[in-house]
Amino acid sequence: MARDIQDDRPATGPKHVAIIMDGNGRWAQNRGRPRLFGHHAGARRVREIVEACPDLGVKYVTIFAFSTENWKRTQTEVAGLMKLFHRYITREARDLFDEGVRVRFIGDRVKLDEKLVSLMDELELLTSGNSRVNLTIALNYGGRDELTRAAKRLAYEIEAGRLTHKDVDAETLAKFLDTHVLPDPDLVIRTSGEARISNFLLWQSAYAEYEFIDTLWPDFTAEVFAGLVQNYGARDRRFGAVKA
Ligand code: FPP
Repeated sequence: MARDIQDDRPATGPKHVAIIMDGNGRWAQNRGRPRLFGHHAGARRVREIVEACPDLGVKYVTIFAFSTENWKRTQTEVAGLMKLFHRYITREARDLFDEGVRVRFIGDRVKLDEKLVSLMDELELLTSGNSRVNLTIALNYGGRDELTRAAKRLAYEIEAGRLTHKDVDAETLAKFLDTHVLPDPDLVIRTSGEARISNFLLWQSAYAEYEFIDTLWPDFTAEVFAGLVQNYGARDRRFGAVKA
């Protein structure tokens, strides 16, 4: 039965954690192996982190699997990653369903191959009744691309006469984003020592806390994750206001 995490999560914990999974390539290179070896090791970590969420009170986890800029990598790496996504969805679907995970994808699907898109659609449908953890996978995602697509759709609604310029405010714009059904992330983690956000959830992370840690993604264990979630509880978020 689905558990409502609102009841058992620490009052101060992050409800939504977003993760930039960086460092797979370096992890593999440190072992004298090809970059794809690192991506495979990274994919195995995803399950461990998702499984850790309920006990940590994390209801939403959003992971950056492939950016709109990642197409610039070598053809071998891009093809290997696409194959990995096919395989991941095919092999993990049943377990994700059984674990009560609801899977969603964000990003532009137009550039992805048809077979992959249909696997993504099927997994979303299969898990649509789950609510224990919400896993969102960003695939061919870029924050600027998402905002541009949202602006285009908003313009279309105005052209069609269903909205006017007076309707355009932050709340309306957010409804056109890929993430419209998700709460904003409370905590954004980036692994591998880089302190950049790389076009990830630009709009949604306006008030998020950030954790940049040196650990390479394939070494990111549930314990490391738990430590960061607990750290967050000690922080004081004011959303621009003054403390009462
Ligand atoms: C960044 O490491 C990682 C990626 C671009 C791919 C992320 C993909 C995974 C973790 C695997 C699969 C995920 C799912 C959902 C199956 P990098 O290659 O930039 O590493 P580097 O900075 O060390 O080169």
